[in-house]
Amino acid sequence: MPAPKVFVTREYPAVGLNRLLQECDTEVWPGPLPPSREVLLEKVKGCAGLLTMLSDKMDAELFDAAGDQLKVVSQYAVGVNNIDVEEASKRGIAVGNTPGALTDATADLAFALLITAARRMIEVHESIQAGEWKAWEPLGHIGWDLVGKTIGIVGMGRIGYAMAKRCQGGWGMNVIYTSRSDKPEADQNLQARRVSFDQLLADSDFISVHTDLNAETNKLFDSNAFEKMKSNAIFINTARGGIHNQPDLVQALKTGKIGAAGLDVTDPEPPAQSDEILHLPNCVVAPHIGSATTKTRNEMAEIATDNLLNALHGKLLRCEVK
Ligand code: DGY
Repeated sequence: MPAPKVFVTREYPAVGLNRLLQECDTEVWPGPLPPSREVLLEKVKGCAGLLTMLSDKMDAELFDAAGDQLKVVSQYAVGVNNIDVEEASKRGIAVGNTPGALTDATADLAFALLITAARRMIEVHESIQAGEWKAWEPLGHIGWDLVGKTIGIVGMGRIGYAMAKRCQGGWGMNVIYTSRSDKPEADQNLQARRVSFDQLLADSDFISVHTDLNAETNKLFDSNAFEKMKSNAIFINTARGGIHNQPDLVQALKTGKIGAAGLDVTDPEPPAQSDEILHLPNCVVAPHIGSATTKTRNEMAEIATDNLLNALHGKLLRCEVK
């Protein structure tokens, strides 16, 4: 029997990719940029498996282009908002993702963004580079304290919990959160409290977003939400850029409706170089690097590869999205 045809939309860690190269008739899209939609529609033809990145749109048109033999879309990420999972299920195409592997790396990054924004590290660094460091400044570069403040977690899943744990355990913060359901583990271990969205906006000194992007969370943080936040609040988003309304966020940061922001995700991604979000002194932006550590990316590669090969061999996926 010929080896199943697989298309991999970007090179990913060798611990996973090498197995696909050995076991399947695998084509890997070369280079640092994703394939265009046109190329993608062409490349998926006749494939039994697709190894995808979060920027690849997987919808009915693409499944049609691939053909009936497509068995699995294995995403090298936990978020699957780029995939029409319902459409895939209707067609019997399994969808896999990589939850768990990136929890700590992403929570670390969320905390890094919080402390970077709070201590104004980017402004300070740029001012040094501009030759402005003349003396110790008794009144200069004043930032925010973190200890004992209130952190509002939007989405108390794995990553939200890991961020809350850092904030409560290390910095003695009070934890409040919004979530679809109560989270007894967070309530017991972190003395966390589930509150309404409006209460979270009003009471949080810092807000960190850890929910997935869906119809409910799309543009959840808009001018209305920023209006209800404390004027010195810090907004952190390491989940998906679509959860904040970016022009509204820019306005909120420029007009002092909120104090600062730390973003690992933007909308669109990447933003145009001229996008104001990249040029505000009170906003630190990272290029979606929450999971970018060696151990994490290797683990994600292992899971994504197992998911794809399992599906091709008619076995259960390690992590299936339904
Ligand atoms: C994910 O997995 O969804 C992250 O955003 C990227 O690793």
